[in-house]
Amino acid sequence: MRTIVITGGTDGMGAALARHYLAVGHRVVVIGRSGAKFDALVTTTARRHPSAPDRAEFIAADLSLVADSRRVVEHLRENYDRIDALVLAASFIRQRRHVTPEGHEASWSLFFLGKYLFVTRLADLLRASERPVIVNMAVPGARADAIDFDDLEMVDGFTFRRSNAQQRRANELLGILATEQNPDLGYITWGPDRLVRSSFAGEVGMGMKVAAAVLAPLLGRSPEDAIRPIVDIIDTPAPGRAAYRGARALPLTGGAHDEKDAIRLASAVEKVL
Ligand SMILES: NC(=O)c1ccc[n+]([C@@H]2O[C@H](COP(=O)([O-])OP(=O)(O)OC[C@H]3O[C@@H](n4cnc5c(N)ncnc54)[C@H](OP(=O)(O)O)[C@@H]3O)[C@@H](O)[C@H]2O)c1
Repeated sequence: MRTIVITGGTDGMGAALARHYLAVGHRVVVIGRSGAKFDALVTTTARRHPSAPDRAEFIAADLSLVADSRRVVEHLRENYDRIDALVLAASFIRQRRHVTPEGHEASWSLFFLGKYLFVTRLADLLRASERPVIVNMAVPGARADAIDFDDLEMVDGFTFRRSNAQQRRANELLGILATEQNPDLGYITWGPDRLVRSSFAGEVGMGMKVAAAVLAPLLGRSPEDAIRPIVDIIDTPAPGRAAYRGARALPLTGGAHDEKDAIRLASAVEKVL
């Protein structure tokens, strides 16, 4: 039995992955905010797979808070000897800059600081697996210069586009750190090949709300369909970094200073964690 840890496993693609891995007999740890969504997911799965509740754990957390991410990591370290797959799918889209009660820019905190903690602080539990894999659902392909090292939390000049590109690039650099520490690890940045009919959790403007409400039902895939390539990646992981759009492997975005940038990012982030 493998242990699959899924942030954002209560809805959308994260929930589809949780249902799949419970159905095929693995242990699944779901991290999210809604215990009610988790209960519904487990109850539905248990109708056809009665042992599912015994193999499912929910950890309630607001992963935009560093303290919550840290608490979840500690819980996992105390209660598990091994993690075989870590899926980073928690998502809350904010088009405007928002500061958390801890003083961090909320999207940077959710989409990078928390993920950084999971990847770096759970490295030894992943090392204990024979075929460890991290699927980081950060759409690959942001430009190599998308990070503003002088203002990581975008106090000045925040736009949704800049913030989104920066966290995506940072998550690609995080793969350099993760695979250097553990050469057996597969580290995949992954985005869907087209819109997915998910909950689109977030606080967004009318334009994005309408686009999601109109386009997703027309053009979107179901989460169950969208996760098929992720299941293939998790079931047969290859060591090293890779990037995917759906089932299509993409070349990794390379910059002249990738290793240096990864170290610079880590040292900046360690100072605020
Ligand atoms: N849908 C698409 O078309 C699309 C396109 C490109 C990329 N993606 C990426 O794919 C991944 C999955 O997206 P999705 O659309 O399937 O997700 P989704 O349906 O929007 O669900 C978001 C998940 O994140 C959790 N979450 C939100 N804020 C959280 C917080 N502060 N702390 C902890 N958990 C939190 C939610 O938990 P609760 O419900 O329990 O609050 C939920 O489980 C994301 O990384 C997203 O950026 C999706």
